[in-house]
Formats: sequence, C-alpha cells, structure tokens
Amino acid sequence: MSWSALLSINNSISPALHRSLTLKPRILSIAPVACLNVDVRAPDSSQNPLLHEKRSSEVIADDKEFIVGTYARSPVVLASGKGCKLYDVEGREYLDLTSGIAVNALGHGDPDWVRAVTEQSEVLAHVSNIYYTVPQVELAKRLVVSSFADRVFFCNSGTEANEAAIKFSRKFQRFSHPDLKDPPVEFIAFTNCFHGRTMGALALTSKEQYRSPFEPVMSGVTFLEYGNTQAAVELIRSGKVAAVFVEPIQGEGGIYGATKEFLQSLRTACDNAGCLLVFDEVQCGLGRTGYLWAHEAFGVYPDIMTLAKPLAGGLPIGAVLVTERVASAINFGDHGSTFAGNPLVCSAGIAVLDKISNPSFLASVSDKGQYFKDLLVEKLGGNSHVKEIRGFGLIIGIELDAAASPLVDACQKSGLLVLTAGKGNVVRIVPPLIISKQELDQAAEILINCFPVLDQGTKN
Ligand SMILES: Cc1ncc(COP(=O)(O)O)c(C=O)c1O
Repeated sequence: MSWSALLSINNSISPALHRSLTLKPRILSIAPVACLNVDVRAPDSSQNPLLHEKRSSEVIADDKEFIVGTYARSPVVLASGKGCKLYDVEGREYLDLTSGIAVNALGHGDPDWVRAVTEQSEVLAHVSNIYYTVPQVELAKRLVVSSFADRVFFCNSGTEANEAAIKFSRKFQRFSHPDLKDPPVEFIAFTNCFHGRTMGALALTSKEQYRSPFEPVMSGVTFLEYGNTQAAVELIRSGKVAAVFVEPIQGEGGIYGATKEFLQSLRTACDNAGCLLVFDEVQCGLGRTGYLWAHEAFGVYPDIMTLAKPLAGGLPIGAVLVTERVASAINFGDHGSTFAGNPLVCSAGIAVLDKISNPSFLASVSDKGQYFKDLLVEKLGGNSHVKEIRGFGLIIGIELDAAASPLVDACQKSGLLVLTAGKGNVVRIVPPLIISKQELDQAAEILINCFPVLDQGTKN
C-alpha cells in the first residue's frame, strides 16, 4: 500500500505520525545505501546533486523545524572540505580557522586519516568493550609512550572524559582512605574554565548561565580565580579536595594561559595533601600549542589528563590518561561505555597521533603560530578595538573592546571562518594544524578588512 493510500484511510493519526509518514517517501528517495545484499555505494556528498539542489535556506528551515534548538548556528550549510577549505551547498569556499572547534587538526580529508578510517571500516568498526581489539590497545600504547601516563580509559567526548576523571578522583580518594567515613570528595575549578555539559563536568564549568537552568548540579565544587595560587593552595590544604581541574591553556574561556608558577604550586600542594591534579587538555592538547601536550611547556605533570577533540581527527573520542597510582583504584565495573575506543575511532586516532607527535610537525605548529601572532600584532596591534592578542602555537585569541560576533559574521560573509570565546569579546582562532603560511596571510587580510564592521556598532 502506498503512503498516500495509508494516509487516506487513516484520518485519526496524530499530527506527528502524519508528518513522519508524509516525510518517508522523501527520505527513502534519497538514501538506499544497501539493499537485497547488493552493495550500493552512497555517493560522495560533493557529487550528490540532491544535496546541492537543497539550497542553504531550505536546510536551515528544516533544521529549525526538526532539530532541538540548542545551537545558535552560523547560517552556513557545509557540504565538503579539503585541507583548510570548506565548501557550502552552493559551492562557496571558506577558509576554515575553526577546525570544527579545535577538532580537525589534520584539516579535512587528510589522506592518511581517510585511508585509516576506510581500511578499518571495511574490516571492523565496533564490537563493544566486552572484547579486545588491536587498534584500541595500539592507540593506548602510543598515548602512554608519548606522555606522563601509565594507562588510558577511552570514552566518546570531552565532557565524558571529565566525567570519568571526576569518578576516578573520588574512587581514588575512597581507595586511598579506606578508614575514613568521609574521604575528600570536593573539587576545585577556576574562573573562565570550561569542562563540559554533562552533570558532573557541568558542575565544574564556571559560566553560571550554563549551570543554573539545570541545578542542582554536583555539589562540592569551589571556583577560584585562574592563577590565584594562594587561594588554591589554602583550599587544597583543607584536606577536603579530591581533585583540582585546570586547563593549562583555557580555550572557551578566552585563550588564557596558566603560568609555570601557578601550575607548579598546584602540583606541590596536591602532592602534600594527597589531592589529584587533573589537566583538561581537551582543547589545548595534542599539538595545538606546538607541544604534544600543553603542560609540557610548563614542565609540570598531572595525575590525570583528559583529551578529546582532535584525537580521532573528527570522529567522536575521549581519553583519560592516568598514572598507575590512580589506575590501581579503579576496578571492573567502576566505569564503562558501549562505543568507547572502538576499532574505527582508534584507527583514526593512531593516524592522527602518529602524524602530530612527529617533532617536525610540532615545530611547524610553533613556527606558524608565532608567524601568525606577529602578523596580527603588526597589522592589528594599533587598532582601537584590540585590547590584546595572545596565543600559544595555533590557539590564538584577539580580545576586543566589543562583542566579537559582528566581526565573526563579517569574516564568514567574506569567506573566513573564525570563532568567538570568553564573554563573547574574543575572536578565537584554532585552524587546522596543517595550515600554510600563505593561508594564514589570506586569513589575516580578510580579518583586517572586516574590522571596520566594529565601528558601525559604535557609530549607531
Ligand atoms: C577544555 C574543554 N573541556 C571539555 C570540553 C567538552 O568537550 P565536548 O564538547 O567534547 O564534550 C571542551 C569543549 O569545548 C573543552 O574546551
């Protein structure tokens, strides 16, 4: 029976079911990927005329109708990408200095990443953590060899990595104080920090507007000023704190870097009190600062490090790297995930880590980061809207005296994608780490040409 016949005989169905039934023929006409054991390859999206016929405005209208409204999206519908370039459904080109929010470190369509994902997907994508797989163990080995850590726990995102770190910290304290009725269970986090959106990680995230609609979140978190060594040391000394969560370089918060003295004091105070030091390197880790791990620049090492964004080059992954001391407190069943560390994401992760951990790759990130920062300082340093240009490798912030969004929008209209950060007053630049100096020149030129848009706001 056809869908229209079915609809005509049943006029008592709900509006939602009616809508889903009337949509079915449209969806089916787009997508038969495999049927009757015949291998029908889904077309490359850049070649798919159906996708290109769907103009941006239609996609945006459908998004507004069918997607829960959690995102204030930029009005761009992206269809394909190569290197640092992205293309929208109308074929317009953009220079991407966002990397999918610090994710696509190797750019779009890196051949080694594509090969790893394609070959692994042809063999085995997922089996759950009930069984062992080679790529998971191989990625863990590489992470251990290249870091302070002894063991790795895999998960699927940054917030999940921090959620696991919260649980591991509390379990570690229980394990370390078997005779205490009330072992340390509290946490310290810092102003401008961002650790994620799930209930534990959210409780550690400083922006009140993210937390308040969902209260009560996990209790026992104290926010201290980022860099206030004395306040942190005093609270750690109280003996109530299970762990201190800190980003060596804050990303969402506005590209602020810790000092060596601050991190070293946290390390010493934690050691003296039996408290754990957790570095959240979800955004700043894995080569972005020109160091493989951002904390290496400070010579201070954590007990736990959380990773996510760039690790699988665009596939969802999170990882919690821990010392043996922490790992020894964790038992079977304490934590887990169905998808985490599956062979597909871990093969992607191996391709990414192998490339980024090459010393010459890391040196090129430092070199390009310095080049771009110098260029921005030279061209924009005297602009009355620019308060500060700061950065570490290829994570760079331009702090303005005004909201950054008009500038970000103007850049997008001129073919350059950048992000905001902080209180909305910082332009955040986190390009693919493979970006060329020529592309950085091009980006600087567009950015500079768009700056006058900030004067329009002040004139009105
Ligand atoms: C430092 C930091 N931690 C945690 C997260 C949360 O990561 P995810 O969005 O993958 O959950 C983010 C995301 O921006 C982040 O920047």
